[in-house]
Amino acid sequence: MRNGGPASGRLGRHPLGNPSAESHALNVLVVGSGGREHALCRRIGASPLVDTLYCAPGNAGIGEIASRVDIPPTDIDGLVAFCRSEAVGYVVIGPERPLVDGLVDRLDEAGVKAFGPRAKAAAIEGSKGFAKDLCAKYGIPTAAFGRFSEAMAAKAWIAANGVPIVVKADGLAAGKGVTVARSEAEAMAAVDEAFGGRFGAAGREIVVEEFLDGEEASFFALVDGETVLPLASARDYKTAGEGDTGPNTGGMGAVSPAPAVTPDIHDEIVKRIVEPTVSAMAAEGRPYTGVLYAGVMIVDGEPRLLEYNARFGDPECQALLPCLDSESDLLAALAATTAGTLRDYHYPGIHMSKPDGGYVPVELPWGPETALTVVLAARGYPGEYETGSEIRNVEAAGELPGVTVFHAATERRNGALVAAGGRVLSVTALGADVAEARARAYEAVDMIDWPQGFCRRDIGLRAGGREA
Ligand code: AMP
Ligand code: GLY
Repeated sequence: MRNGGPASGRLGRHPLGNPSAESHALNVLVVGSGGREHALCRRIGASPLVDTLYCAPGNAGIGEIASRVDIPPTDIDGLVAFCRSEAVGYVVIGPERPLVDGLVDRLDEAGVKAFGPRAKAAAIEGSKGFAKDLCAKYGIPTAAFGRFSEAMAAKAWIAANGVPIVVKADGLAAGKGVTVARSEAEAMAAVDEAFGGRFGAAGREIVVEEFLDGEEASFFALVDGETVLPLASARDYKTAGEGDTGPNTGGMGAVSPAPAVTPDIHDEIVKRIVEPTVSAMAAEGRPYTGVLYAGVMIVDGEPRLLEYNARFGDPECQALLPCLDSESDLLAALAATTAGTLRDYHYPGIHMSKPDGGYVPVELPWGPETALTVVLAARGYPGEYETGSEIRNVEAAGELPGVTVFHAATERRNGALVAAGGRVLSVTALGADVAEARARAYEAVDMIDWPQGFCRRDIGLRAGGREA
């Protein structure tokens, strides 16, 4: 297995490794409807490799740059049929559910290439117990753990290990399946809840693990089954309340790169966590292809794995992608991941050929700036909230220098922009450092007129209000 080294390099121009193809233009479908998918559509839509860009189902912002398709990400038959009827040549899948349910496998059977792992490899996110066993078998640093399918044994493990302790539903639970328990009663209640059916089939099995105290970071790498091309790190702000209080959400803000991920820690994550995992998945007959997202806790300067995800993070993606240099062709890099040619990115000079024998080099350089993203959510999120309220002045906010407003759950009604879900907008600003990106992002947030929304005011700050 090879390490892609710094995220820049070259590859031949045909995106899916078919040098004899007459035309290089592709119809591309992005699957999903959040801020992550808006950020992906922006980057992918800018690629010279794209003919028509579709997004299923998208949102109001995505509708300005892609053709929206009214098919939900869970409708695998519908998505496959659409790709065949519209000659879609490449599919980029945002959320985890369709990956775990085998969308990539089904598209492949239909002759359509797709970015993301097959179901067998997406199990790295789809089953926390699977990911933990993989870590144990291959010596990947993570928290001590037990896997349980009934309450008594889980409770005995909790009683023996003490609190704080972490209880996790094994399967996909939309970010709500993890309880960090400070008291034994809370831990026991979390066990009963999972086995009582709160998370449906996802909670039929649970993982109980050691609490890790440290700095959390998300790390992203492209993986083509063998080669790792590290992208960048991000810090996610998971709780709804400031100072990391309140219930966990999908993510209320992000900073990229993560201030805690020094160059040494970046290398440690690649060498001790990501590369061994990629080798392990290949050895297990589940080669991993797509973006591998490692959620890590940095404890006493050493990264340890909290969990794997089989996709880009949301809102991390909205901070990560704007940091790519404007010359970078993200679609070419995603396609090289699918084609298994990522090694060309770190051995400049080895290129796939075009039919005329030449090649067009494609680079994936990163800009020098820091990005900071603030999520605007409907009041009440992640609990109950209302939809349909009007949001004004979004376009003007997006015109501030260095600012991009990504839509998440938005729709247009009679020309007005309205909220259509929990996390509604992601406001990203670039700056020379966190402080500058932060000032710009909040200036844009303050221009947006949406009384029914809220955001955290402490994105980019550590607990206690210090600069991150
Ligand atoms: P996960 O979905 O596994 O990333 O868990 C959700 C969140 O719970 C993580 O982002 C952490 O903030 C927290 N968490 C998960 N596992 C642990 C652990 N072993 N120790 C401390 N916090 C954890
Ligand atoms: N922001 C966390 C996630 O995407 O899972």
